[in-house]
Amino acid sequence: MTRAVTARLDRLLGNMGYGSRREIATLAKAGRIVLDGVALRDADRRIGVTADLARRMTVDGEALDPPPGLVLMLHKPLGVTCSHKEAGPLVYGLLPPRWRRREPAISTVGRLDKATSGLLLLTDDGELLHRIIAPRSRIAKRYRATLARPLEGHEAAAFASGTLVLEGEAAPLLPAAFERVSERVALLTVVEGRYHQVRRMFSAVGNHVTELHREGIGGLALPDDLAAGSYRVLGADELGRVLARGEEAAPG
Ligand code: URA
Repeated sequence: MTRAVTARLDRLLGNMGYGSRREIATLAKAGRIVLDGVALRDADRRIGVTADLARRMTVDGEALDPPPGLVLMLHKPLGVTCSHKEAGPLVYGLLPPRWRRREPAISTVGRLDKATSGLLLLTDDGELLHRIIAPRSRIAKRYRATLARPLEGHEAAAFASGTLVLEGEAAPLLPAAFERVSERVALLTVVEGRYHQVRRMFSAVGNHVTELHREGIGGLALPDDLAAGSYRVLGADELGRVLARGEEAAPG
């Protein structure tokens, strides 16, 4: 039997960025925090932290933010960086300001380059994050690459070989699945997450990536209706698709 997770109201909302404990005590006393239609006036009472809390609790009449354990899918636009502290626009700037004050913090699951767009997952669940990015998980990442030069026909074999070594590295890459879309566009599915991996793979076969877009992670595809710069909370079934490795897409 799994034990229900409970938390003090002031601590829970404090860690979700709603304010200091004192501020939350003030909100509660004023009847501004409501659970299942009933005002919670004592900020030190414990409540069950369940996924449906966002539907059952309101603060100042607005639905509570997703409780801890959230996973987001974001359509990363070009020009934003996957970092908490670098200069310039950051992916975290696309989230509501309150979400940026959460503890544990929301972090990207791996990174996409500033010049890469597409599906990016974010979570405050460190264990889940490591499970997705761990090399042994071999979760497939599918990219659409636009190239500076026409494809030559030898790329699929080179990427599938399991012997391709990137410049400056010693260990060969695991086999990756390649599909030609047109003369200068290809889909590449990799199960590792090495630095600038896709760009360096095409460099290794004498080409150059001019545009890169991540279309899917595991069995989860970036939805067509998720506009660049937008995000939404991932459902449990969608998370299951990420972790299912996308068997049909994964090479090797
Ligand atoms: N490979 C790259 O080269 N860049 C990315 O952003 C992701 C994979």
